[in-house]
Amino acid sequence: MADQYDYDVLVIGAGPGGYVAAIRAAQLGLRTACAESRETLGGTCLNVGCIPSKALLHASELYEEATGGHLAKFGVNFQGVSLDLDQMHAEKAKAVKELTGGIEFLFKKNKVTWLKGRAAFQDAHRVEVGGQVVTAKDIVIATGSSVTPLPGVAIDQKVVVDSTGALALPKVPEHLVVIGGGVIGLELGSVWRRLGAKVTVVEYLDQILPGFDGEVRKESAKLFKKQGFELMTGTKVTGVTVEGDRASVQVEPAAGGEGQVLAADAVLVAIGRKPNIDGLQLEAAGVALTERGQVGIDHDFRTNVPGIWAIGDVAPGLMLAHKAEDEGVAVAENIAGQTGIVNHDVIPSVVYTMPEIAGVGLSEEAAKAKGEVKVGKFPFMANSRAKTNRDTDGFVKIIADAQTDRVLGVWIVSSLAGTMIAQAAQAMEFGATSEDIAYTCHAHPTHSEAMKEAAMAVQGKPIHI
Ligand code: FAD
Ligand code: NAI
Repeated sequence: MADQYDYDVLVIGAGPGGYVAAIRAAQLGLRTACAESRETLGGTCLNVGCIPSKALLHASELYEEATGGHLAKFGVNFQGVSLDLDQMHAEKAKAVKELTGGIEFLFKKNKVTWLKGRAAFQDAHRVEVGGQVVTAKDIVIATGSSVTPLPGVAIDQKVVVDSTGALALPKVPEHLVVIGGGVIGLELGSVWRRLGAKVTVVEYLDQILPGFDGEVRKESAKLFKKQGFELMTGTKVTGVTVEGDRASVQVEPAAGGEGQVLAADAVLVAIGRKPNIDGLQLEAAGVALTERGQVGIDHDFRTNVPGIWAIGDVAPGLMLAHKAEDEGVAVAENIAGQTGIVNHDVIPSVVYTMPEIAGVGLSEEAAKAKGEVKVGKFPFMANSRAKTNRDTDGFVKIIADAQTDRVLGVWIVSSLAGTMIAQAAQAMEFGATSEDIAYTCHAHPTHSEAMKEAAMAVQGKPIHI
C-alpha cells in the first residue's frame, strides 16, 4: 500500500534527470517529492553546465564577430568595440536565474514537493533529507556527476579551476592551459580564446574529442588550430605548481620523453566527470555499483534493490542532459506501471563550438567493426546557403549499412550542426535508410540540403559536387 509511505516517489537530485522524473511522476498522479541540496533547482546543467556555458559561448561569439573584422566583408564595420566582462557574466546569471526559477514554478504547478537538503539512505524506503526522515515506495537516484580530479593538481578556483571556475573567471587570462581536449575543454577554451586569451589544450590521447568519428576529430582539430588554439595531443600533465597568480604546468609526451613547462595564469582541469555517490549511504539500502563506480541499472533503470531506480550521469551511459531527461520520463512511466523506453543507440551529442560538432549513432570506425558499411559525405563548401553566408567549414557524413542501407550514424561539422542533428536522430529513430533521407524534400537554400546530398552520396550520386 503506497499510503504507508510519505510519498509514492522520492527523486534524489533535481538536475535534468531528477526534475523531469519528478514532474512526469506527478503528472502520472503519483505523490512526488524531490530532494535537492543546491540553493536552486536544475542541477549541474542549469546552474553550472549547459546553460551558463552556452550563454558565454553566445556572448563571446558576438564579441569575436564584432572585434575580429569578420563582418567587414559584409560591409558591416565596427569602431570602439569593448568588452564588459562583468555585464557578460551578469547576463549569463540572468539566464540561469530565469531557467532555475522556471523549474521551481513547474514543481509548484505539478505539486512536486521540494525537500531542501542532502539526502542519505537509511534503508531501501527511508531517506534522511536535511535532518528529516521521509519514506517513499519508489526512490529514484538522480544525483548526477562532478569533476574528476587530477591527482597532484589542486583546484583552487582562482588560478587552477574546474568548469565551474572557468565559467566565472573575473578577467580574461593571458594564457589559459586546458587539461583535457574533450567537450568542456574545447567549449570553455573557445569562450576565453574569443575574448582574447591564448589557449593551449593538453590532451593525453593522440586526438581531441574521444568517442567522436575519426574524420570529425581530425577536421575539428584542423579548424581549432586555424582559430589559434594550440593543441598538444599525445601529451600528459605531470604536475601543476602555483605561485601567486601564476601557474607552471609540467607536461611531457604521453609515451615518455623530454618534458617542458608551460607558464599560465589560468589552468582548467577538464578530464571527465565522475558519478555523485559520496554521502548517499547507498550501502544502507544495499544498492550495488558498477566497476566504474556508477549506480548499476538494468534496461528499465532498476537497481539491484526493488523500488530503487537510477538515471542520468550517476548511471552508466553518455553524460548528457537530454539523455538524463529522457531517462527521467521513462523511469517515472516505469514506476507508474507503464512502459518507459530510451533508445540509447540514438542519443545525439553536440559540441557547441564554432563550427558546432555533432553526431548521432555509430562512428565510421565503430560501424566498420560491426560489418560492411557505405559512407556518403558532403562538404559545406558546395552548399549554397553556407557559401552565401561565407560559412563553408565542415561537412555532413552519413554511415549506412551496406546491405540494408539503414542509417547507422550521422556526423556533422557546421555552424548549425547542433540543430541539424535532430533530423538525423529522428530519421534513425524511425529506422530510415539513406535513400529515405535522399528522397525527402529539403528547403532551399538551407544548410540542411547538405544532409540530403550526403545521403545521395551514400549511393554515389550527389548532385552538387
Ligand atoms: P545533475 O545535473 O548533475 O544534477 C544532480 C543534482 O543532484 C545536483 O543538483 C546535485 O546538487 C544533486 N545532488 C547530488 N547528491 C545529492 C544528495 N545526496 N542529496 C540531494 N541532492 C543531491 N550536457 C548537454 O547535454 N549539453 C550541454 O551543453 C552540456 N554542457 C555542459 C557544460 C558543462 C560545463 C558541464 C559541467 C556539463 C555539461 N553537460 C551538458 C552535461 C550535463 O550538465 C549533465 O549531463 C546533466 O546535468 C546530468 O543531469 P543529472 O540530472 O543526471 O545530474
Ligand atoms: P570528456 O570525457 O569529454 O573529455 C576529457 C578529455 O580529457 C578526454 O579527451 C581525455 O582523453 C582527456 N584526459 C583524461 N585524462 C587526462 C590527463 N591526465 N591529461 C590530459 N588529458 C586527459 O570530459 P569533459 O570535457 O571533462 O566533459 C565531461 C562530460 O560533460 C562530457 O563527457 C560530456 O558528457 C559533458 N559535457 C557535455 C557538453 C555538451 O554536450 N555540449 C558540454 C560539456 C560537458
